[in-house]
Amino acid sequence: MGGAIAFYGLLLLSGTWMFYGRAARIGRPPWLRNAHYFSGIIIIFLVLLLLVIGVVGTVGYYGDLGHSNHLWSGLLVVALVLLSAWSANQINSRNTWARSLHIGTNLALFIGLAFVSLTGWEVVQKYL
Ligand code: HEM
Ligand code: HEM
Repeated sequence: MGGAIAFYGLLLLSGTWMFYGRAARIGRPPWLRNAHYFSGIIIIFLVLLLLVIGVVGTVGYYGDLGHSNHLWSGLLVVALVLLSAWSANQINSRNTWARSLHIGTNLALFIGLAFVSLTGWEVVQKYL
């Protein structure tokens, strides 16, 4: 989870930098987009890994799912990350809606990550 938040921070930095480069018409170094894209692939992997650990661990322990709001917030984060990655790949000079969608989903993702951490911490308390 720490890794997912760290990579969210990297994506926010490199994304804001690209936004600035476009808005100020000074362009962007070519490695910036690659670094952003590569970090994106890593955060998708981390979030899916947490999903699998959460689901497998919970099913193994209880035999079913849905013990708290953590399930819904977890599924929300996974959906938002996938939507973000999909919209990122739709961005081009014609599809300006895709850029808005990408930035919008990523702002929502911030709230989602906060929510999944809070509810995850809540279920951890049950075991302490
Ligand atoms: C989920 C994985 C992600 C992938 C695969 C991804 C990929 C991309 C791609 C391909 C672009 C378009 C670059 C271009 O204009 O050609 C882009 C733009 C952008 N991304 Fe991401 N991204 C991801 C997550 C994020 C996150 C989490 C944030 C912020 C917290 C973010 C912020 C931005 C911003 C602000 C831009 C706009 C750049 C501009 O306006 O020119 N991205 N991203
Ligand atoms: C992107 C991040 C995460 C995703 C997608 C995710 C996903 C899930 C899912 C789907 C479950 C099954 C929940 C249920 O059926 O009730 C689960 C369980 C669990 N998760 Fe996460 N999780 C994430 C982050 C976290 C974090 C940050 C923590 C701890 C601070 C955490 C702690 C737990 C614990 C303790 C359980 C067992 C649930 C229980 O005993 O009721 N998770 N996770």
